[in-house]
Amino acid sequence: MSVLITGGAGFIGSHAAVEFLNAGYEIVIMDNFSNSKPVVLDRIKQITGKDFKFYRADLLDLASLDKIFDENPEIDSVIHFAGLKAVGESVSKPLEYYHNNVTGTLMLCDSMRRHGVKTIVFSSSATVYGAPDEVPIKESARVGNATNPYGETKVMIERILKDIYVSDKEWNVSVLRYFNPIGAHKSGLIGEDPNGIPNNLMPYITKVAGGKLPYLHVFGNDYNTHDGTGVRDYIHVVDLARAHLKALESIKERRGIDYFNIGTGTGYSVLDIVKAYKEATGVEIKYEIEGRRPGDIDACFADPTKAREILGWTAEYDITDMCRDSNNWQRNNPNGYGE
Ligand code: UFG
Repeated sequence: MSVLITGGAGFIGSHAAVEFLNAGYEIVIMDNFSNSKPVVLDRIKQITGKDFKFYRADLLDLASLDKIFDENPEIDSVIHFAGLKAVGESVSKPLEYYHNNVTGTLMLCDSMRRHGVKTIVFSSSATVYGAPDEVPIKESARVGNATNPYGETKVMIERILKDIYVSDKEWNVSVLRYFNPIGAHKSGLIGEDPNGIPNNLMPYITKVAGGKLPYLHVFGNDYNTHDGTGVRDYIHVVDLARAHLKALESIKERRGIDYFNIGTGTGYSVLDIVKAYKEATGVEIKYEIEGRRPGDIDACFADPTKAREILGWTAEYDITDMCRDSNNWQRNNPNGYGE
């Protein structure tokens, strides 16, 4: 039996690949390298000492998808990470986002169905909750009203997966709603390497730490939080990766469709992170307070009880580990994966 990992060269996908290989799974990775580099594959092999098959392929290319399943009949489940994920970019490129993420998932599920592969773990996001009515957020909270096209693609894909399951109960679907993944593998060999100037907080901070950017722009200090800056539920990417293992094992046994928040349950503000970074690494992050970023909300953090009770999963790493490992990745790879 083997697991197909779509987007397996990306930030979260590569960490998941390591965890699956370390757990003894056979894996096949597909990626189109739209936001990742081929060298990631060597790094995964270096960390694990294990080999795997790789296909450079795009989800929108049905023939390539069919070829992967035809050539690897032992694949019995899919961990689906591949997709575009920049919130701001999705506002200016809605067609690309809906097409890549939604059509891409339709293609994947169509190919899966025709090859009798009906088990999928899907990378969703806390963004499906939009501006939550209350925190911590439970899985039963209202879904929809995402604030941007990227978020809407996650809402739509969740809906599509549900309808597929309703139509055919042989499908097993586990939807993981990620909070804010940061950190990196402790080896410092794989980590987050966004194209261009980072949109997200931690990759921006590591660039300031490495002297590539002068200071952090803190987007607003008038939110309804303990220090006025936005509060989020940061989760170590290795913890997040391990949640996929638990989700796959669980859904194969429990069967059906299920939804899980994957976060620590603790919210930290932007200034808490700046402070934690200094404490974990000794590096002072210069910052300036600026206006709010459109679309941002006060606070977003998970109630991860369901994942603990049903998956037997809880986050093991704390904010100090996350800051240390993010910094370690950046120090070892000041130019990310390079050209
Ligand atoms: N922030 C700054 N300066 C920056 C970047 C971010 O102050 O340069 C602040 C934001 O205002 C926010 C916090 O840091 O308060 C976290 O921002 P991120 O951009 O890192 O993360 P978001 O919570 O905005 O978005 C993340 C993912 C989305 C996902 C969302 C769901 O990037 O993909 O969580 O909860 F949809």
